Amino acid sequence: KQTGLTSLDYGFVNTAATRSSITYIDGEQGILRYRGYPIEQLAEKSTFLEVAWLLIHGELPSETELADFDERIRRHTLLHEDLRRFFDALPHDAHPMSVLSSAVSALSTFYQDSLSVSDPEQVELSTIRLLAKLPVIAAYAHKKSLGQAFLYPDNSLSFVDNFLRLNFGTLAEPYEVNPVLSRALERLLILHEDHEQNASTSTVRLVGSTQANLFASVSAGINALYGPLHGGANEAVLQMLAGIRDSGESVQKFVERVKNKESGVKLMGFGHRVYKNFDPRAKLVKQSADEVLEALGVHDPLLDIAKELEEVALADQYFIDRKLYPNVDFYTGVIYKAMGFPTRMFTVLFAIGRLPGWIAHWREMNLDPQTKIGRPQQLYVGSPERTLDR
Ligand code: CMC
Repeated sequence: KQTGLTSLDYGFVNTAATRSSITYIDGEQGILRYRGYPIEQLAEKSTFLEVAWLLIHGELPSETELADFDERIRRHTLLHEDLRRFFDALPHDAHPMSVLSSAVSALSTFYQDSLSVSDPEQVELSTIRLLAKLPVIAAYAHKKSLGQAFLYPDNSLSFVDNFLRLNFGTLAEPYEVNPVLSRALERLLILHEDHEQNASTSTVRLVGSTQANLFASVSAGINALYGPLHGGANEAVLQMLAGIRDSGESVQKFVERVKNKESGVKLMGFGHRVYKNFDPRAKLVKQSADEVLEALGVHDPLLDIAKELEEVALADQYFIDRKLYPNVDFYTGVIYKAMGFPTRMFTVLFAIGRLPGWIAHWREMNLDPQTKIGRPQQLYVGSPERTLDR
């Protein structure tokens, strides 16, 4: 028997590693609240930056606080020219998630004046820098993949419009703001802002528990988000839907293959560790999908395939028995595609959305006197002691 080991818990299904007062989830009832406010209300009535402040500081900002926060973020959007050139060293077909995590990691080389984990002013400065620069880095990763020139941020625009312009604007023509697009993206970003101890947030906390700086911790979180079982699922869903369309396979046949666990094929965008009834974010995203595609005048057969898949799966005993429902990633890709984003940018959009949550958790952890370095145990199942025979 190993000393000190009390339980073995693959995937941390039963083990709480922290207390937190940021986000509440009830997986049976399909409830998600940020700092007590239902996600449905926030998605309808607030802005991304307002919710970011709420998550980080615990209360909604006053008008002046929000104006200051917004202004400070606008003033920090520029990337250092050397960081802009950093993109030149990477291959044009690099996955934007790898570009994103590398560039965020590089931020700690450019901003050595804000690496302290205990000085509140430096933590605030790193927070502002990350919120301001991550969307710019993301847009440059996109532009690089297209072989197009990078635009400098236009700080007269709102957070979301600035980001859309950096992605879809060109040097040749002025960018026209599309309010339908802006509001739809803002809503999706709000829905992604936090989700308590998911894999990427837990990664940010684990790395941060060593007193690594905020940039290093967030970069690790981006890498954790990249995987297809987590944020990478939104990209995988689109590939799955396109695969069904291109192969001409019926939705029923595809679902049969999933049920037979044929070469590990899963219904991507379905299932969740915590939600066992429905994912409240998925409900809101599905509504948005119809509204946004209609407003943008897009008809996408992939949306029809997604709806048929959902209908077939929800009526099937395999999915009912395992309590598998569409999660937040099931319909987002169809919307991002209609907005004009390439599939490889989908998880990057998730990362921009999740950034305030990562920051809020890192800061909460650093202020909690109970925090200890994260250090899981193991159950050793290897060889007993043996002698080197030479
Ligand atoms: N398709 C088919 N079967 C599934 C799926 C799915 N998407 N998800 C779970 N199952 C089955 C699984 O095979 C297992 O069956 P059995 O009992 O016969 O072995 C059972 O359901 C329980 O699954 P699990 O893997 O033990 O569940 P988990 O809580 O460990 O995993 C999950 C949760 C989200 C990783 C998983 O449902 C999954 O892989 N889903 C597809 C990927 C995906 O959409 N991820 C996005 C999650 S939401 C956004 C985010 O957090 O990033």
